[in-house]
Amino acid sequence: MCGIVGYLGNKKAIPVIMQGLKSLEYRGYDSAGIAYIKNDKVNIIKKAGKIKNLDNVLNYKEDTYLGIAHTRWATHGKANDINAHPHKYGKITIVHNGIIENYDNLKKELIKKGKTFISETDTEVVACLLDEIYEKNKNMLEAINLLAKRLNGSYALNIICSDEPHTLYAVRKDSPLIVGNGNQEYILASDIPALLHVTNKYFLLDNYDIVKIDNNGLKFYDENLKQIKKQEKVYTGDLEVSSKKGYDHFMLKEINEQPELIKKLFRKYAIGDKFSNVFDISKYKSIEIVACGSAYHAGLIGKYYIEHLANIKTTVTYASEYRYQKNFFDKDSLVIIISQSGETADSLAALKLAKKNKIDTLAIVNVFESSIAREAKYVFYTEAGIEVAVATTKAYLAQILVLLMLAANTLKDQSEVINSLKLLPNLLSQYINNYDYKKIAKKLVNYEHIFYLGRGLDFSLAMEGSLKLKEISYIHSEAYPAGELKHGTISLIDKNTGIIAIVIDKTIKEKTISNIKEVASRGAKILAITNDEKNEFSDTKILLEDYNDILNPLVTIISMQLLAYHIAKLKKCDIDKPRNLAKSVTVE
Ligand code: F6R
Repeated sequence: MCGIVGYLGNKKAIPVIMQGLKSLEYRGYDSAGIAYIKNDKVNIIKKAGKIKNLDNVLNYKEDTYLGIAHTRWATHGKANDINAHPHKYGKITIVHNGIIENYDNLKKELIKKGKTFISETDTEVVACLLDEIYEKNKNMLEAINLLAKRLNGSYALNIICSDEPHTLYAVRKDSPLIVGNGNQEYILASDIPALLHVTNKYFLLDNYDIVKIDNNGLKFYDENLKQIKKQEKVYTGDLEVSSKKGYDHFMLKEINEQPELIKKLFRKYAIGDKFSNVFDISKYKSIEIVACGSAYHAGLIGKYYIEHLANIKTTVTYASEYRYQKNFFDKDSLVIIISQSGETADSLAALKLAKKNKIDTLAIVNVFESSIAREAKYVFYTEAGIEVAVATTKAYLAQILVLLMLAANTLKDQSEVINSLKLLPNLLSQYINNYDYKKIAKKLVNYEHIFYLGRGLDFSLAMEGSLKLKEISYIHSEAYPAGELKHGTISLIDKNTGIIAIVIDKTIKEKTISNIKEVASRGAKILAITNDEKNEFSDTKILLEDYNDILNPLVTIISMQLLAYHIAKLKKCDIDKPRNLAKSVTVE
């Protein structure tokens, strides 16, 4: 959600900044803007809609070496040119990622003092407040420090002061911001892909750190305005993160990366017929998994593995609910927070709540050193690499893998899980390559409503299948526990309803099939994703082999991902950047 880029260096700033901004498109946005210094003056250009609207009016040859830019995902006020960032007030120009919770009170206070606003944003209030503070003390470092003390909520800010046209400032709290350190050039960004065209060396910022970049170089200050040293990090991952490598979409590329990812996790954590260096969950009496969206769905599959293999009672709760429900904070329990981005606001807040109540916390996170990874007591990285498509695929699978390893690690004999995982990469490749998903997608693409039905583990899988479909194809879809249909929802079923039945879980298969037959007798056509060879209950099927309880859910996932992908492709949807969605959900 929102992307930030700032640049000061020896190259023309606009092309560098725009390349960075484009590589952050995956985060989700609905307007974009840039401010740059030319002849010591601030110029601002901003446009609603896609980055190309901004690109169309920019002069890439402009003689400028310092600028800040932003992609905005609207929160306060509509997605229009006026609300787009940067915002300028007096001498201050800023771009902002995050939410200022007390902006309304601050705005009222400033209005009483005679200030006026042209946008509906919290960001313009921040610019105004900083300008007011700066005008009193004429010292930017002190002014930013005082500003930070007045703001509640989250922010990553890039700041230009018109009195110092050769200096770039930044500050952050609870929103991501990193500082790339190139050769006599510096780039501020929300995430690593936006700085790799300049450098792979970067610094992470802690809350309230202030950055000052000018012709003398880069300096960091802590919240007492003491100059501090930060440890430089080097990104050693894939430098071509912004390339689709021949695939039509990042989502397809990322689906195809899953077999290699499993091999990578396996190489790292499996030694002989045992797991090694895997966090030990056996001392906990219960586990609470807390997450959002697909990460929550991964938690549901994890619950299955942990309860069946480790015999530890496990609950799974949406982070947005956990924050506000009554929790019992049992000291013998472990709270596991799952998050691809490591920045999801609700998951981060749930983590902080568990920590405050002295519960052990384990973060299962993809993005290295993200806020959730840094905040949790223990962290287990999913190592899926940078995921660009908004709809998660490889990170979701990796989350499940990690949960499976946590569960299997408690077993005396881990050989069945180890041997199964050895087979998995080839099985996944087989299901990626050997099925004509497009043909099946054609049968489903014209439905307005598609139900995913299942029971037990199959229902957990159905929830993810349905989410994948609706978020990228915009077809209304619901996952429903097949046994619950007749208590009301079956009234919606007729020949115009699409049904995808997940029938993998042998413990409840017969019951699920009866429920599916009830639906079929109301005229609905059934597509089954199943390992039931007889399969007398569906019109079309994706037949999976029946391996074991460890592998069966994992191969089902790949088929659901590819089916959703091909339906969305037939509908010519913007698969990698679905409307209204953001990759990193940093607002509540
Ligand atoms: C769906 C999807 C989202 C995320 C959810 C949590 O494809 O990607 O549902 O799973 O927003 O995000 P993270 O995992 O970053 O906390």
